[in-house]
Amino acid sequence: MKWQGTAMAKVTECESRLLEAALKAMKNAYVLWGFKVGAAVLGKDGQIYGGCNVESWVSGLGTCAERCAINHSVLHGNRRIKEVAIVMDTHKHSEPNPCGACLQYICDFAMDSRIKIVMAKAARGKILSESVKVKSLEELFPFPYIK
Ligand code: THU
Repeated sequence: MKWQGTAMAKVTECESRLLEAALKAMKNAYVLWGFKVGAAVLGKDGQIYGGCNVESWVSGLGTCAERCAINHSVLHGNRRIKEVAIVMDTHKHSEPNPCGACLQYICDFAMDSRIKIVMAKAARGKILSESVKVKSLEELFPFPYIK
């Protein structure tokens, strides 16, 4: 386990693998003005699909890591997701939460509203174990637009 910190959060083996995949994806983030974000989704097909944020100088043109990971999964024919991990490489950002747009997108492809979202911060290329938290989609996004 390449994690850094003391208070290791309780995550399953699967969640740990998802976080590592998100960390790996984060290294390819294309950042012009923000910070690096990596995501990984566990597909209904049992595969893990990674994604990173891709920024543009034109506001609104870039994409978040979560949506990149979901698009990656759809590209491979997987349209339902069972779990999501997100890793944000920032000391500035207080909490590694997904944005509202990504919560709606996760909701669009989630198997159900109880799926888990595992979030963590990273520093110097490592997950900070004390920052790891696990919430359900319905906790983070109780009132979706359409589901
Ligand atoms: N970002 C994500 O990739 N996921 C989120 O859920 C929130 C924000 C990205 C967008 C932008 O490239 C950078 O983080 C700073 O907002």
